[in-house]
Amino acid sequence: MNTWREFWDGAHSIYVSERHKDVHYRDVAEQLAAFVPHPDARVLDHGSGEAIHAGLVAARARELLLCDAAASVRASNATRFAGNPKIKVIGPEDVERLSDASLDLIFANSLVQYLNAAEFDWMLALWRRLLAPGGILIVADVIPPQVGAASDGLALLRYAAAHGFLGAALVGLTRTALSRYWKLRSELGIARYSEPEFLAKLRAAGFSAERLPKNVEHNPARMTFRALPLTN
Ligand SMILES: C[S@@+](CC[C@H](N)C(=O)[O-])C[C@H]1O[C@@H](n2cnc3c(N)ncnc32)[C@H](O)[C@@H]1O
Repeated sequence: MNTWREFWDGAHSIYVSERHKDVHYRDVAEQLAAFVPHPDARVLDHGSGEAIHAGLVAARARELLLCDAAASVRASNATRFAGNPKIKVIGPEDVERLSDASLDLIFANSLVQYLNAAEFDWMLALWRRLLAPGGILIVADVIPPQVGAASDGLALLRYAAAHGFLGAALVGLTRTALSRYWKLRSELGIARYSEPEFLAKLRAAGFSAERLPKNVEHNPARMTFRALPLTN
């Protein structure tokens, strides 16, 4: 296993327990649902992961597209959401085939840190092309340069204490520290951006952009941005 794509396609211990996974995806889905601009919106969750509570988002939208690069994640999402006609599970090539200006909201939580600079620039151009005028791009959990493992670990422990899985988090952090995740993080690196750098990237890609006061995920030191396509 030598790439982030392969890592996410295999078994990993990023979630310290089933309760953690459930709380995490519910939290993300509730926040994503709140970003849906209107009931007729077509929404893309890009790098969705298992998105087990995506039904909460679909209930607020016309259509929800769940795209993940990992075939195993797509397979489990397709099974889980087979009974929900508003949810479509698609791959990265399907996203490329979507029509210009066909989406009202694009959401990418905890995705861009796993993309290299060229992949990220390519994705920004794709998002710009796909968003309808008045559409919204939310890019969340962006890691600033100074935020490292200690900040992530502490934030997870606080989140776990607040949601009743502190014991599992203490065990899980040790397991993660010894896992492939940290080995890969030191081998491949992870993309980090300062706030001004990230805003400049969004603006260069044709968006007006702002950092939101609160990050979508549990580490408040990471950042969430809202970007709106500029009209030419
Ligand atoms: C850290 S997980 C985040 C999952 C989810 N967004 C969440 O809120 O928990 C990153 C996910 O992005 C997916 N991914 C990575 N690169 C991708 C790409 N280029 N296109 C689509 N999905 C990608 C991975 O397969 C993985 O499921």
